[in-house]
Amino acid sequence: MADLFTHQRHTDLCAEIDRHNRLYYQFDAPEITDAEYDALFRELLDLEAVHPELVTAESPSQRVGSTPLEKFAPVRHALPMLSLKNVKNEREFEEFDKSIRGTFLAQTGNIEYACEMKLDGLAVELTYEQGLLVAGSTRGDGLAGENILDNLRTIAGIPQRLAAPCPRLVDVRGEVYIELAAFQKLNHHQEAAGARPFANPRNAAAGSLRQLDTAITAARPLKLFCYGVGRLEGTTPSSHLELLQQMQQWGLPVNLTGTATARDAAEVLGYYRQLLERRDALPFEIDGAVVKVNDLALQRELGEVSRSPRWAVAFKFPPRQAETVVEGIALQVGRTGAITPVAHLRPVEVSGVMVARASLHNWDEISRLDVRIGDHVIVERAGDVIPDVVKVLVERRNGTEQAVPLPESCPECGGSVRKAGTEVVPRCGNQQCPAQALQRLKHFVSRNAMDIEGLGEKQLMQLLERGRIEDVADIYRLGNDDLFALERMGEVLAGKLLQAIDASRTQPLSRLLFALGIRHVGEHTAKILAKRFPTLDELAGAGHEQLKLIPEVGEKVADALVDYFADPANLLLLEKLRQFGVAPTPEATVLQEGPLSGLTFVITGTLTRMGRSDAEALVEQLGGRAAGSVSKKTDYLVAGSNAGSKLERARQLGIKVLDEAAFLQMTGRE
Ligand code: IVH
Repeated sequence: MADLFTHQRHTDLCAEIDRHNRLYYQFDAPEITDAEYDALFRELLDLEAVHPELVTAESPSQRVGSTPLEKFAPVRHALPMLSLKNVKNEREFEEFDKSIRGTFLAQTGNIEYACEMKLDGLAVELTYEQGLLVAGSTRGDGLAGENILDNLRTIAGIPQRLAAPCPRLVDVRGEVYIELAAFQKLNHHQEAAGARPFANPRNAAAGSLRQLDTAITAARPLKLFCYGVGRLEGTTPSSHLELLQQMQQWGLPVNLTGTATARDAAEVLGYYRQLLERRDALPFEIDGAVVKVNDLALQRELGEVSRSPRWAVAFKFPPRQAETVVEGIALQVGRTGAITPVAHLRPVEVSGVMVARASLHNWDEISRLDVRIGDHVIVERAGDVIPDVVKVLVERRNGTEQAVPLPESCPECGGSVRKAGTEVVPRCGNQQCPAQALQRLKHFVSRNAMDIEGLGEKQLMQLLERGRIEDVADIYRLGNDDLFALERMGEVLAGKLLQAIDASRTQPLSRLLFALGIRHVGEHTAKILAKRFPTLDELAGAGHEQLKLIPEVGEKVADALVDYFADPANLLLLEKLRQFGVAPTPEATVLQEGPLSGLTFVITGTLTRMGRSDAEALVEQLGGRAAGSVSKKTDYLVAGSNAGSKLERARQLGIKVLDEAAFLQMTGRE
């Protein structure tokens, strides 16, 4: 029989592994490495091998929930999924137009094109029978793809049932993608969790969709954009545009606002040029336009050659890459002391924008690329204005290139540099480092933090140099005299600036929390914290365990907060802020009005279609309240699999229990 100690260790191991499963599968935010996880799991299995009496149905060793499938099953497309021929420039498009006209002009007198955006994602097919989603696959080789129906079902924008009147049968084709903002957030998540970030939104979409565990896909911000059909029975649209409109009426996501018709090549070129200009302002990545003959009868007549239709082309944008030379590598010191390398480039135009700098991220990246001063490199703009160095042209080296070693001292203040454990970032350890102080100040006043307009880098630098401010609290004791001394600061501007400073004293607590620059506390986490703790004092008083109970607050964030509030220098700063009248407004936890207004939900157990925090967010979005524990005030308990004590308590109290399907139906997700 297992002794008490072994029993306790088994219970602890189960709880710990469960927690890491949740962090990994639901929040995409693992706190430990795979090897560490494996070690825990192995310990559990070893323990259970010696003490089989400890094995219960709840043990993570017995659960299949997160056991990945071996492989996706192949599915044949009823009609092949074709690919598109590319045209790279206006001349090539004009040739395409001529060939179409050559075939048809005599017959029709006119040709109309439908012009669409070419989204950069992953092609999928969804089959609806009598309006019901019954199959879903990747494009694969065009003839057969992989069965990813379960994953596709987790995408919020994909209807499980089409709105009537819908066709008897339709194979909907479209592109699954991730918006740029969501991609960046996902990568921050990945990096914070020590996982490798995705190279671009396309890879992130493909990686997220082809997960063997649907819970991972469900947690990723995937979207669909429909652009065509395979089989279609029960309706006969006459043009492509009409088809798109019908698809929209069936409840499918279609990008109609990005679509236009054109009567000739000149109009197509106009569309293309406009699209190129809009490209950087779009919330998603596109890599060109797709131009299709609008008339479906003409499309059928044109047919296809070698797996591409004759009636459509991809009119690709020029590459976002360019070749240039690294003229220098500067070291920037951030507000946490992190020293990051930035490449100074021989200015070069990349898809219409001159670039002279590229981010090198960190030393791991420098050694991965082996980039040196003097190197010829390929730079790429992928959504961001600041480009990345993607490749070094090693064959262009002449031996004079210089590697940049890890700095031994801070390039700004000469302070000593530390590199903690596995961190890839060296940091300046000098708390008084002026470069760090400037960055902390810049962050504090920035738009998403305390939002003090009129206090930019130039002003802050002058105030620092003249000893008028040392830390962020000093901003609140600035007076007219201090401001008049600044360059180009007249009475009116100074008055406005003082007003802006004053107004920021009562910014919402989440802004102050973000502005303080506590490690791992970004805007999103700051909001979560401010919702739970109405004052800084209450947050400062919260212990590690209490913090970790908050959804989305993991080990790292809890550690960072405890460390922050344990540091006397920080407490002094907070006290100084208070003395100078900074009194943040408690976060209004105003509930939105919605179909769930007045209802309190508790979510427990593992849901398959979304993470628990997503389900809670959904409840709040619809006007309800999501609570952490079951009480008499609870209206519904949503119980996923492995629901434990909360389910029991709900039953005792006679509270209505919903399973996941009923919850999805109630929230309109089914
Ligand atoms: S039409 C036969 N329209 O581009 C028609 N494709 O290079 C085939 N794509 O595999 C596709 N946006 O993944 C079409 N508006 C759009 C598109 C689009 C993106 C992708 C799709 C396709 C690839 C072809």
